[in-house]
Amino acid sequence: MDNILEVKNLNCIFNKGRKTQVNALKDVSFELKAGECLGIIGESGSGKSTSARIITRLVKASDGEVVIDGRSSSDISNKELYKIVQMVFQTPVESFNPRVKLGDGVGESLRNNGVSKSETKERVEKLLVECGLPKEYYDKYPHEVSGGECQRAAIARALANEPKILICDEATSSLDVTVQKEIIALLNGIREKRGSDISIMFISHDIALVQQFCDKVVVMNKGQVVEKGDANEIIMNSKEDYTKKLIASVL
Ligand SMILES: Nc1ncnc2c1ncn2[C@@H]1O[C@H](COP(=O)(O)OP(=O)(O)OP(=O)(O)O)[C@@H](O)[C@H]1O
Ligand SMILES: [Mg+2]
Repeated sequence: MDNILEVKNLNCIFNKGRKTQVNALKDVSFELKAGECLGIIGESGSGKSTSARIITRLVKASDGEVVIDGRSSSDISNKELYKIVQMVFQTPVESFNPRVKLGDGVGESLRNNGVSKSETKERVEKLLVECGLPKEYYDKYPHEVSGGECQRAAIARALANEPKILICDEATSSLDVTVQKEIIALLNGIREKRGSDISIMFISHDIALVQQFCDKVVVMNKGQVVEKGDANEIIMNSKEDYTKKLIASVL
């Protein structure tokens, strides 16, 4: 299987040279194979979101390279990158404009890419249904739906451009356990349907969930990769003290 994403020796320094300097990433490398789901675990502040933000270009790395589908990310335009990599965040309601109907929010990027109004509507309704929402939810506003439903709409929006990589940064953390399970079932369905056409980077504090959902895992501590490999193997059988402590503190 080919790597859809390679993160190579990333370094990220915030507030360089100031008293508040943070070395958020130190020589971080990991890879995601096409069709795989890669979990990223590590305590708060270990650099998980910073890694995701560098991949999606919300943050610039101080050093290192991101390779997407065999091409250096620096050769990929913002517009193209947006189509290839999409992110789902922790707080779905905040990620939608409160004054825009959910369906229009989900279809915004399609419209921006020149898809006609009627085709956008058709495609958005299909996406909503795929994500477990009635197509009538097109006309609802973000505050009119539950957190779980809004996260479904956020996933529909992320899928609109058929991205190759979906990054979920604590995407289930604000939801109760039952809804979390439903969202994981939805993500599993998306994986089943798309096979090697979609790969997921799943950032979570919930190690049991990562073990269940992910094929591989990267463990981070203070901006560094502590270990990486098969999710079951690392979570059940880690030889690293840091990972053992991390697992003991949350399981
Ligand atoms: N824009 C920024 N400016 C300055 N420091 C930052 C910035 N973004 C992140 N940091 C710092 O970089 C480090 C890594 O943060 P990051 O958000 O990547 O951690 P995380 O692993 O996602 O944590 P959490 O589990 O709490 O979400 C932290 O020390 C954080 O304070
Ligand atoms: Mg984070």
